[in-house]
This record gives sequence, C-alpha cells and structure tokens, in this order.
Amino acid sequence: MKSVKLEVEGITKRFGDLVAVDNVSFKVYEGEVFTLLGPSGCGKTTTLRIISGLETPDSGRVYIGGRDVTELPPQERDVCLVFQEYAVFPHMSVFDNIAFGLKVRKVPREELTAKTMEVAEKLGLSELLGKKAGGLGLSEKQRIALARCLAVEPEILLLDEPLTLADAKIRESMRRELRRLQRELGITMIYVTHDQLEAIMLSDRIAIMNRGKLLQVGSPREIYEKPETLFVAYFIGSPTINLVEGRLTKVGEKYLLTRDDITIDVSGLAQKFAGLPELLDREIVLGIRPEDLYIAGSGSGIFEGVVEIIETAGDQLVAHVKIAKETMLRLLIPLDTEIRVGEKVVVSADAEKIHVFDKSTEKRINLEELHQRRMV
Ligand SMILES: Nc1ncnc2c1ncn2[C@@H]1O[C@H](COP(=O)(O)OP(=O)(O)OP(=O)(O)O)[C@@H](O)[C@H]1O
Ligand SMILES: [Mg+2]
Repeated sequence: MKSVKLEVEGITKRFGDLVAVDNVSFKVYEGEVFTLLGPSGCGKTTTLRIISGLETPDSGRVYIGGRDVTELPPQERDVCLVFQEYAVFPHMSVFDNIAFGLKVRKVPREELTAKTMEVAEKLGLSELLGKKAGGLGLSEKQRIALARCLAVEPEILLLDEPLTLADAKIRESMRRELRRLQRELGITMIYVTHDQLEAIMLSDRIAIMNRGKLLQVGSPREIYEKPETLFVAYFIGSPTINLVEGRLTKVGEKYLLTRDDITIDVSGLAQKFAGLPELLDREIVLGIRPEDLYIAGSGSGIFEGVVEIIETAGDQLVAHVKIAKETMLRLLIPLDTEIRVGEKVVVSADAEKIHVFDKSTEKRINLEELHQRRMV
C-alpha cells in the first residue's frame, strides 16, 4: 500500500456569501499525479492555495506526510506551487531564476550551484543558464518555473494550469515531458486543469469538482467507465456523451422511453432493464458515449433517425443523427463508414456500455448492484 502524502479533510472556504470550496476531502498518495479537474470557478485554485498555505480554510484540516499543517505558513510546508502568471523574473538570468528558491532558503553557494545545474540539465536548460529569462519562449519559461520548484525538492509539487498559455503542439510535448520528469523523480504532483483531455493523459487519478464540491475521485478509466453523476459523464469524454431522457415504461414485451409527445422504443436495451421493476415508470437519463454507438442494419437497431451533420474528427467521423424532435445523437464511427446527410439510418449500441441515471437526483443508477440484490 502506498503511503498517503497529502490528506485534505473536510475543507471549506467562503468568500462572503460564496462557498468557493465546500467540504472537500481527498487523499493523495506518494508519487502519484493527482489532478483537480472542473469548470472555471469550481474551486480548483482555492483548493490548491489552501494546500500550499496561501489561503487558510474556514474549516477542515490539511495534512502533509501525516503532519497537520493547516495553520502553517507556506514556507514551512515543503510544497511548491507553479502557476502561469508568476512564471519567471524576466530581468534575471535563467540560473538565478532556477536558484531563487534555494537562495531564499539560504542554501550554501556550492550546493546551490550544483543543484541548479543538475535541475537545469534534467529540464534541458543547461545551455540557457546565462541568458535573461524574459527573452525566452513560453516552453522555456515554463521549464524554468518548474525547475525553480524542483530545485528545492518539495514533498509535493503543485501546478495550477501551467500549460494554458502554450499552443496545442507545445502543450502536448510539455505534457509528455512533465509526465516523464515526474516519473523519473518520483515526485508527488497535484495538477489543476479545466481541460479533461489533459487530465486524462496526465493523471493517475482525477478529482472532479463543480461549484466547490468534489463529485468523484478515480482513475481516468474509472471515471470514464463509471461516472457517478450526469455532470461527470458530461464533463469527461469527447465528443460529449449523448443524454437521452424520458420515462421508462414496459408495454407488453416492449420497453419505451417517453417524453412529451415522443416515444422511443428502447427494447434493444432490454437486457439492461429486464428484471428491474424499480426502473419502470421512472424518469431516467440514458448516457451513451458516441464511441459506443454504431450504424446497424435495419431491424437490429435501437434508434432510428436521419443523419443531419457529418464531421471528421481526426481519423474518425462524427455523425449527428436526429432521432426525435429534440434529440440528436452523436456517433463516433470509422472514417470509411458509408453514410450521407439526409439518409435514414438505424443506430445500435452495446447495451453493456450504456449508463443509466436518475433524472431527479442526476446520479448513476447502479444496475449491477440492483441485479445482484435481486439474486440474493
Ligand atoms: N479572493 C477571493 N475573493 C472573492 N472570491 C474569490 C476569491 N478567490 C476566488 N474567489 C471565487 O471563488 C470561486 C472559486 O474560485 P477558484 O479560483 O478557486 O476557481 P477555479 O476552479 O480555479 O477557476 P478557474 O478555472 O477559472 O481558474 C470563484 O467563484 C471565484 O470568483
Ligand atoms: Mg484557477
């Protein structure tokens, strides 16, 4: 079992009437990349600032390596925070920029030089040590900010959206670089981003936040495969998950999803619903990922509709199929699929991969658990 490096226990932070962080708890294990993910304003930065000591929570505790640091100032916490705005001191040399944290900590000159050169080497900055940081490119500045933190060997490295200013290509290579370095140094990292793709690529585990609350923590795969709420299902995955809502009823042997004046025959998903009377006459939302849908032969489908838009997305197609007045499905399908705009198609899905949510609570209905309960 890996040891707990950081524990955040029920932290709450208010700014006036606003609850920026609302009773948030999580643990971060030694050597992992833990990402706080969520839309703008959800409380990511505030959480990170509480961990770093720049902010004190109204309630709750923060433990680093088992020690309660809630009341300690940043310099006594052994964490280092990298954020974009403060990246580098432009008039200082790269060397002085990297050495800054060591200087503040009054590290002896020789050790300071050796450490600075070592970190510069790791980050590919050795050639630039004499240059002024201000004139360098974004990717270099980013590495300098990171090097300054790494040089002081913090227990935990905190990164707040460090790649937002870089363009897509640079971001990609910096992300890879960051991950490589983190593995090589075995450092514990807490990363903040609102970009779900970045979170998925970089993280061992992700914590999804919305409106100050922590909604779910898990590996990228766990979160993708078992979103606990509609919000999480919608936030993770691209193209976005399809959500089809309605009241589920059983008429004879047929399962119908009814909403206003529209009825969709979802008998093709019968295996999902069979034997679970608690699902019937209930408002539900079906969550179906675009990659789990496909064009089927007539008679073997679940949905029928008309292709409205076809887009290419890398080496695949995204087809938008209108299955009801207000309901469009997005399908992620092979590039060579032969379909045309205006064409009537039959759409099928792997029933196993469909998510079912309760419409009023917006929570996942755990069908496996319901099935198991029926069996005992
Ligand atoms: N010092 C402050 N005073 C008042 N309100 C604040 C303060 N700091 C943050 N907030 C508010 O608290 C909420 C959470 O802010 P926070 O910066 O933690 O969000 P975030 O998830 O980092 O968002 P972003 O993705 O935009 O950086 C926001 O509504 C923000 O306006
Ligand atoms: Mg922020």
